[in-house]
Amino acid sequence: MDEITKLMVEQLRDAYSAEKQALRAMPRMMKKASAQSVKDALQMHVEQTEGQVERLEKALEMLGGRPGRKVCEGMRGIIEEAQGELEEHDKGPLMDALIIAGQQRVEHYEIASYGTMVAMAKACGQKELANLLAETLAEEKQTDEKLSQLAEREVNPAALESAQQTEPANDKRGGRRSTAA
Ligand SMILES: [Fe+2]
Repeated sequence: MDEITKLMVEQLRDAYSAEKQALRAMPRMMKKASAQSVKDALQMHVEQTEGQVERLEKALEMLGGRPGRKVCEGMRGIIEEAQGELEEHDKGPLMDALIIAGQQRVEHYEIASYGTMVAMAKACGQKELANLLAETLAEEKQTDEKLSQLAEREVNPAALESAQQTEPANDKRGGRRSTAA
């Protein structure tokens, strides 16, 4: 196996570990979500991710590699941080906003990783491999876009509303910040 193929196999193994970790994390996030739309978006991506894992297995096979035991530390950190944040909040619109924030970090990490792998495969003339990974890249971008829309249209406005309802009483002293200046 030449050096560049070895490097691609390592990248694929890293992505394989990242997807497996994301696959375990998403159902936990779903349990903490309140809005049905957030649960649905996560569920849809769980199903997509299962297909993405299969694509990675196929990609590794194409290069003569196997998944191995490599752990993606980057994804581990992203998930750990997101779940730590969720511990500090109760269920509700604010929690939903945090869930989306965490999931979008996951997607962005994956977009970076697949973007690199597609470019490498293309550079090596591995067209079939590049196309296979480009399918996943497109799904990750779609998911990211969908989560942005969900946040902007539904979850962030709801979070803002719930935050205003529970605003502390000190507003009575100083007035609202927007008018106090
Ligand atoms: Fe993803």
